[in-house]
Amino acid sequence: MTTTAAVPEAPGALPLVGHALPLFRNPLGFLRSLPAYGDLVQIRIGPQRAIVLCTPELTRQVLVNDRVFDKGGAFFDRAREVLGNGVLTCPHAQHRRQRRLTQPAFHHVRLADQAEVMLEHVNAVTACWNDGQVIDVPADMEKITSRVLLATMFSTTLRPETMAHISDDLTVVLAGIYRRMFLPAVLDRLPTTANRRYHRANSRLRHTVASAVSGRLGAVAQDGGGDDLLSILLSARDPEGDGPGLSDIELADQAVTFFMAGVETAATTLAWSLYLLSRNRGVEERLHAEVDAVVGGRPATYQDIPKLPLAGGIVRETLRLYPPVPLMTRTATRDTRLGGCCVPIGTTIAYSPYLIHHRPDTCSDPGRFDPGRWAATAGRSPERDSFFAFGGGARKCMGDQFGLTQVVLALATIAARWKLRPAAGTDSRPQLSSTLRPKHLRMHTIDRAGGAPH
Ligand code: HEM
Repeated sequence: MTTTAAVPEAPGALPLVGHALPLFRNPLGFLRSLPAYGDLVQIRIGPQRAIVLCTPELTRQVLVNDRVFDKGGAFFDRAREVLGNGVLTCPHAQHRRQRRLTQPAFHHVRLADQAEVMLEHVNAVTACWNDGQVIDVPADMEKITSRVLLATMFSTTLRPETMAHISDDLTVVLAGIYRRMFLPAVLDRLPTTANRRYHRANSRLRHTVASAVSGRLGAVAQDGGGDDLLSILLSARDPEGDGPGLSDIELADQAVTFFMAGVETAATTLAWSLYLLSRNRGVEERLHAEVDAVVGGRPATYQDIPKLPLAGGIVRETLRLYPPVPLMTRTATRDTRLGGCCVPIGTTIAYSPYLIHHRPDTCSDPGRFDPGRWAATAGRSPERDSFFAFGGGARKCMGDQFGLTQVVLALATIAARWKLRPAAGTDSRPQLSSTLRPKHLRMHTIDRAGGAPH
């Protein structure tokens, strides 16, 4: 049996920065190239080495075995600076309890009510659009998803400027986590503009969220619990241990975790869906027909979702083509074996939904946008079996149904009234930042009821 030292290294590494250059310049081409070197391939991210899993089987094996392959590696080391030990970042030993305490917040029985909040905010943001206007699509989509999360989390207790602060700080902090993954820790304390912005945004974010949590605690003590996510977290008791619920610090960690995990992921999915529709007019026309038949002139509802299979297929196909989290890490907690190789304790392992979704054996013609792959009639398929956009195993995304509901409803609501077309200055090349986002996506709005023909 070989050791990790014998695992082939991807070409193109430079001293000090490793593969940071190809990961920045052409991240997706780089990820797609890796399976050519083996089922396990070494890359270097700044000072750290990682072994990338290049098959769906190895990816599943690592995700399911979360005791041996625990949260760790460059991303999580940096993310813990911001998220503390929330459910996304905590080690295996704390995870079961945290998951039991937080999961009820995303129970499917709440989705119908949460969907009403989602629709209110999609309508509020798109009500400001005028025919022929140019919009910054990811920014507008983030307005929707951050307001939805804030409203479902804190009900109506936050002032608009507090919501704006949280949203701005999240953007700076997320980009900072990603940038700092590639840099040695000794550079953290340098008084650079980027470091100052990051620290300022991080401490304001913690402060705002902690005050919002204690404000909500006060309101709950006075008037009893509500039905928002925070009230559910507040009243959570561990059903398996007789231990207490979440402490105030843990509550703030979870609140920041939900924002970090749920805002940009859903916003970039929506932005990519709208872009892909503008490039695939046949699919766009069929979506308009579906939405017009189901929704007509009234607002879409949660009950409409099963009647919108094409909208659902478009969202899943977007997540296949552009998974918002294209690369994630784990750490081996003991010496172990993987893919015929001895993996020593402490080794960083990386899994990549993007890489797996683009293997020709997991998806025929993987670069083609084809929502029909997800039709109910298509049945089981390699695409479905190898779909990792929400991760897998015990650490699988907790907000997957919340996120899918939100994106499908927003897409249907937008498509009922608008068509979008790329505007001058658009550069849709995918950029690997905190999520996989288009570089600059500016689009013209066209009112379907009578806008200029395009
Ligand atoms: C389209 C939208 C979304 C995508 C693509 C997505 C993707 C992911 C992925 C890949 C993971 C696993 C990370 C890992 O393996 O280390 C994850 C975990 C998580 N996500 Fe999502 N996510 C989305 C939306 C959301 C939303 C809306 C929320 C909450 C409001 C959320 C909350 C979480 C949480 C709490 C975890 C940690 C679960 C655990 O470790 O037990 N996500 N997400």
